[in-house]
Amino acid sequence: MDSATATSGSPPKTRSLVGRDPWTTPLDEIDLAHPGIWQANEFLPFLDRLRRDDPVHYCAHSAVGPYWSVMKYQDIMAVEANTAVFSSEPTIGIVDVLPEYTLPMFIAMDPPKHDEQRKTVQGVVAPANLKNLEGLIRRRVCTILDNLPLDEEFNWVDRVSRELTTQMLATLFDFPFEDRHKLTYWSDVATAIPGAGLIDSYEESLVILKECLSYFSRLWQERASKPPGNDLISMLAHGPATRNMPPMEFLGNLILLIVGGNDTTRNSISGGVLALNENPDEYQKLRDNPALIPSMVSEIVRWQTPLAYMRRTATQDSELGGKTIRKGDKVLLWYASANRDEDAIEHADRFWIDRPRVRQHLSFGTGIHRCMGNRLAEMQLRILWEEILPRFHKVEVTGEPKRIYSSFVKGYTELPVRLIK
Ligand code: HEM
Repeated sequence: MDSATATSGSPPKTRSLVGRDPWTTPLDEIDLAHPGIWQANEFLPFLDRLRRDDPVHYCAHSAVGPYWSVMKYQDIMAVEANTAVFSSEPTIGIVDVLPEYTLPMFIAMDPPKHDEQRKTVQGVVAPANLKNLEGLIRRRVCTILDNLPLDEEFNWVDRVSRELTTQMLATLFDFPFEDRHKLTYWSDVATAIPGAGLIDSYEESLVILKECLSYFSRLWQERASKPPGNDLISMLAHGPATRNMPPMEFLGNLILLIVGGNDTTRNSISGGVLALNENPDEYQKLRDNPALIPSMVSEIVRWQTPLAYMRRTATQDSELGGKTIRKGDKVLLWYASANRDEDAIEHADRFWIDRPRVRQHLSFGTGIHRCMGNRLAEMQLRILWEEILPRFHKVEVTGEPKRIYSSFVKGYTELPVRLIK
């Protein structure tokens, strides 16, 4: 049974929007949190509809409980700036998981604890450290690209996007390289919806993530007994704000860094190839002028919007866009919509690799929680394209991509491609 049509009392829950007309569907039946339209790639006109007709929208009957949707760029900026009224606690996903299955992590904390914990780990993505990582990333990119088959169909997601981001994570944590695929597995488990394939329940996911905890605890012990190093585990083990973290908080912050650095970058790598194929003039512009790579990278991240939303929870009653949001209400900030908001972004529906003010998108969020790894993600994408362009005339998409069943992580499980010299 479709989870969003399951009823546990009246009134009935909203159903999937797949195949429905976005412009005539009654507003109270629009439930963006249902994964259906995201997997079917039918979400964009529903975002347009809400931006036009009800930019601060209340969905009362979702299977995941009632919630607000904030659709406009400026409204999201205002909410993110007001952390006292719109809290990141207890979680930034739509589902309120039982406390025993909730992992504490600084993305889901408010000041001052958020600020202290973020400060402890952000050194790993400081400009000097990124510079140190650049050579290693480039070598890894070259090896991956040089081992790809020519003129033969393969899945870009597995062979490039996943592989590269997994190797990158292993580097950040100084994680045993031969075990690096465990990192991707844990990341997938942490974001999986029970019943959608990978796991059957949150209980099962927690059991798997505890294996992750025990693996990392061993590495933590080793690093804690040595002088401070530049990898993330060593930073957590020695940082004054993190060294005495309770085990579940350590696990939560590990998962944050694993998921943060993994899915999002992976899906931007796949999404970029797809966007360039769907916009051949922009691909040609890039071939003619590789100096556009940095700008194109930002445009790819906007276009893909790898995380469709972040959630906040109201700590008190307040007004937004003429609506009254009540204390305790869930509020979803739809970056996927803000990034297509014509009032903030010129020709927002156009993939335009040399657009003006190209970094002014909301894929990385804004305010105190703005993505800590944004420069690292951009650097990976930049190096990848710097190495793709001299090697291949085209990374040609040869079939329909398969998209993830999620309204939160926007990405792909398959992208069939062929390399043309
Ligand atoms: C936070 C997106 C890559 C680590 C976030 C947020 C978003 C985001 C939307 C929340 C922002 C907010 O609430 O305002 C992305 C995207 C990426 C990416 C689209 C790639 C294209 C990375 C990488 C890392 C990372 C590579 C690895 C270090 C984090 C962390 C936070 C975060 C630690 C929490 C920041 C905080 O709460 O202060 N990211 N991210 N992200 N990201 Fe990323």
